[in-house]
Amino acid sequence: MAYRKITVVPLAGALGAEVRDVDLLRADAETWNEIRVAFRDRLVLSFPSHNLGPKALVEIAENFGRVGFYPFAEGLPEEPHVFAVVKEPQETTNFGEGWHSDTTYTERPPMATVLYSVEVPPYGGDTLFANMHLAYDALSDGMKAALHGLRAINSAAHRKGGGRAAGNAYKSVKLVGQDKMNLQGVHPVVRTHPMTGRKALYVNALHTVRFDGWTEEESRPLLEFLFRHKERPEFTCRYRWQAGTFTIWDNRAVQHLAVNDYHGFRREMHRLSIEGDIPA
Ligand code: SIN
Repeated sequence: MAYRKITVVPLAGALGAEVRDVDLLRADAETWNEIRVAFRDRLVLSFPSHNLGPKALVEIAENFGRVGFYPFAEGLPEEPHVFAVVKEPQETTNFGEGWHSDTTYTERPPMATVLYSVEVPPYGGDTLFANMHLAYDALSDGMKAALHGLRAINSAAHRKGGGRAAGNAYKSVKLVGQDKMNLQGVHPVVRTHPMTGRKALYVNALHTVRFDGWTEEESRPLLEFLFRHKERPEFTCRYRWQAGTFTIWDNRAVQHLAVNDYHGFRREMHRLSIEGDIPA
């Protein structure tokens, strides 16, 4: 589509765009319509050159949907929907290290996630994104047929995902909610995007434990294949942050990974979730 109000600069062939010439706090209805089209088409949008406090983040995010809560982090005092993801110079662990879609261990995982860069290292600390529509489309017809109707168990207690993180890492992220470690979401392995009807691969190594009705041992070889397959470089883009960038990704069709390559530097991001539906 030709945009009149915004400038959309793709980040890579697969997905992602930087949107320029927009002040998100002052965008009019026509601008928001164009942003929503760009979001549908590019799945990840970054808006640089902003200066946003937590309340402004929520105000902007509400243009995409209802703002929700992340179950394992304490919100900021001035705005409980927003929590800080911080890595201090002396820390070595990084929140969100490993490909995943957010919170798939809940019944209704977020539709989208917003990340706003408050402070970024001079280099490193990029975020990678991968397009799960392309990952699905690239499977053979035989594999697509095998996955049809299959569901997977996603657990908060799995590996470093969700609640497991509370016990072992991320000193600078105020993690809470250990009592929610038993959260589980049973979701289709291939979900259909409610807006576009496109299919997306919906398993991830941080949260997906096994296929429903299969043992972990039986599930592992096929899951390992799908985890490797969906990370192919041609399905991805990489975002290099500047401070003051509002980024939103479609959690129904995108997986992401925070690159942990900036030891000795501080990085602070503010993050919130936008509520989603039951994956189908
Ligand atoms: C996350 O997984 O939400 C963190 C992403 C990042 O910090 O780049």
